[in-house]
Amino acid sequence: MNAPFQARAGLRDPFTAFVCDDATADMLRPVAVEHGWSPEKVNKGGLRNAVQSLSVSASPNILFVDLSESADPLNDINALAEVCEPGTIVIAAGQVNDVRLYRDLVASGIHDYLLKPFSVDQLRDTFANAQAILSGPRGEAQVDKPHVMSTVIGVRGGVGASTIATSLAWLLGDKAHRTTALLDLDIHFGTGALALDLEPGRGLTDAIENPSRIDGLFIERAMVRANERLSVLSAEAPINQPLITDGTAFFQLQEEMRNAFESTVLDLPRHMLIQFPHMVHDAHVAVVVAELTLAATRDTIRILAWLKSNAPQTKVIVVANRVPSGGALEISRKDFEQSIERSVDVVIAEDGKLAAQAAKLGKPVAEVAAGKAAAPYAALCNMVLSHATEEGASEAKGAAAAKSLVDNLKSMLSKPKQAAAA
Ligand SMILES: Nc1ncnc2c1ncn2[C@@H]1O[C@H](COP(=O)(O)OP(=O)(O)O)[C@@H](O)[C@H]1O
Ligand SMILES: [Mg+2]
Repeated sequence: MNAPFQARAGLRDPFTAFVCDDATADMLRPVAVEHGWSPEKVNKGGLRNAVQSLSVSASPNILFVDLSESADPLNDINALAEVCEPGTIVIAAGQVNDVRLYRDLVASGIHDYLLKPFSVDQLRDTFANAQAILSGPRGEAQVDKPHVMSTVIGVRGGVGASTIATSLAWLLGDKAHRTTALLDLDIHFGTGALALDLEPGRGLTDAIENPSRIDGLFIERAMVRANERLSVLSAEAPINQPLITDGTAFFQLQEEMRNAFESTVLDLPRHMLIQFPHMVHDAHVAVVVAELTLAATRDTIRILAWLKSNAPQTKVIVVANRVPSGGALEISRKDFEQSIERSVDVVIAEDGKLAAQAAKLGKPVAEVAAGKAAAPYAALCNMVLSHATEEGASEAKGAAAAKSLVDNLKSMLSKPKQAAAA
């Protein structure tokens, strides 16, 4: 909830509270007044009322919410996260004294948890801290990081493209410290939310049905937050409902994500690539995920050729995933590389144990992996970032080349004149 949407901050109320009892309300009101906030923004009704009222109104900059009446605080906080716009700093209070709950709340994006009864000074401290964050240099930090648009394409189903997309998005957020959007375009069977133990929500389905509604505010509301720097847009559209769209929604979403985040990862099923080729046009990097099998070799060749002619400016990274150890290979790496006429950039071993563990924990594989198993994911993330910056550099080089071309043309134009004058 403390996400990077500074642009909207001006439209919001500075502060709203939802408390459960009069004692808390009485303590909060004078402190609110000290900060220049209206004491009327201290409402009764706790978390339940907060969820209800935020589902129909804009979220404040600072939200105080009392969890005392909540039977399952963590679950209820997730309900709040669905209606609360990113950028809101949430301060929770409650009576449960459990460090695990505290940790889980913080992991789900809560700024602070005050154990009741708390003192006025504790309250002042936490508000001061929240305000420091709001007025902090987050906006400037964003300017330093040009957007990185990446897309992950599995050459066949089941090769692990979504697994890699989720991991890449998580790494861009957690390790590269970039606010990151994961857009899962498997509209009916998407796993972007599932892999992170989240409910996909209706955001993506709404966007497809009503592309004209997509703007910055829509993105803030529709995206589901996995952590402080990773938000997901994914769907489980009803399977009796065919996908009806001309792709405008996807294009708009990509555009808005470019504005709101520092990186975007598109999980692009290969049939969507055929139907909506424009999704790749703006990608700095395409991660092509394959297996070392005969069928995957054929489809890698075809997809690489497609990328070459449809998105020549996009840098391609080839990942061989699920590579079994020992001699159980259907096709050797060497033969695969020869067939696709380029080398494999990243090799990820078949590791059922790790995949199962990640699924059980509802975490990306890259987060669960340790040591040697984590290395290829880190390498992939670094490659994506360096290719994207190279892209920027080569654009600049291109501009320089264009300039000298113009200079050349000018001098060519001036020559005949001289010749004519001579
Ligand atoms: N390196 C790996 N080792 C073992 N299992 C993997 C590996 N990568 C992915 N998987 C598993 O393969 C299955 C399909 O992965 P998924 O990412 O959904 O594929 P795709 O998106 O390409 O269809 C999942 O159960 C996932 O856990
Ligand atoms: Mg997939």
